[in-house]
Amino acid sequence: MKRKPDTIFSAFEKALKKRFAIGAFNFYNLETLQAILEAGEAMETPVICSVSEGALEYMGVDTTVMMFEALVEKKKFPAYLHLDHGKSFEVCKKAIDAGFDSVMIDGSSLPFEKNVELTKQVVKYADKNGVFVEGEIGTLSGVEDSVVVKDSKFTDPKEAKEFVEKTGVNSVAVAIGTSHGAYKFSGEPKLRIDILSEIESELGKFPIVLHGASTVDAEIVNKINKEGGNIKGAKGVSAKDLALICSEHNVCKVNVDTDLRLCFIASLRKNLRASPKEINPRFFLSSAREEMKNVVKSKIKLFQGKL
Ligand code: G3H
Ligand code: 13P
Ligand code: ZN
Repeated sequence: MKRKPDTIFSAFEKALKKRFAIGAFNFYNLETLQAILEAGEAMETPVICSVSEGALEYMGVDTTVMMFEALVEKKKFPAYLHLDHGKSFEVCKKAIDAGFDSVMIDGSSLPFEKNVELTKQVVKYADKNGVFVEGEIGTLSGVEDSVVVKDSKFTDPKEAKEFVEKTGVNSVAVAIGTSHGAYKFSGEPKLRIDILSEIESELGKFPIVLHGASTVDAEIVNKINKEGGNIKGAKGVSAKDLALICSEHNVCKVNVDTDLRLCFIASLRKNLRASPKEINPRFFLSSAREEMKNVVKSKIKLFQGKL
């Protein structure tokens, strides 16, 4: 893989210094990746293109890297290929060997010392290959790779400091009340910004990552339900909280998957019903791609602190 002159390391340094967050968006096919890259280009900003273990299995590692490389080559703004929620050393090694810019080793469900041990092993291998590593401390609830995680545990700020020092990770994902998927809150959305501030006091100027940051907009949920879907009671993070977190804290990367999925599905449901005679899949996929592109653009703006 040809290394780009703008590395993900310098992108994080800039985000930390200038107080904005880089959007990290999950992709699993050509259209989602095109939407992310085209939005980054239109907004003249770097983007992180994330692949979960499930998506990696779905597309295949070689296809993933080749598709990314082919699309990114023509772009003026940098984009980085990232493994999201790698659960083992082996999957991280596979991504590193294939040419990913960055990997996340997610040992957050392990006891502290085991998480440290696994993360250190990945950092050592990634370092040799110039690859960026994200670790996680604290647990988010929600659905990841079809596995439902019921118990969340807020990040302990002192543990976060010890974790960063012992592992040598380049960034750390923390749990402050967000969760994966479309059902994040049963009542009012509430994030523990107080815990985030305490983590920052412990870590000093160090890049923090926020997962589970989809806003699950009511408009899109209603569109899906109106067109025959059934995702009642879905609720996401408040956009206002996100704008504040990105512009006044050390959060340098914000992860979004669910909002793009919702947009994709809403578009397909609406257009399939509206055009019953159409049998060209490209007709439906290109509309979905355009709509996802707009969602990515609005997220990029939000992560720059603009509501
Ligand atoms: O954090 C998890 C992402 O939402 C990925 O989900 O494993 O179903 O692709 P997935
Ligand atoms: P959402 O489910 O809120 O989009 O979070 C995605 C995520 O954190 C991917 O790692
Ligand atoms: Zn996540």
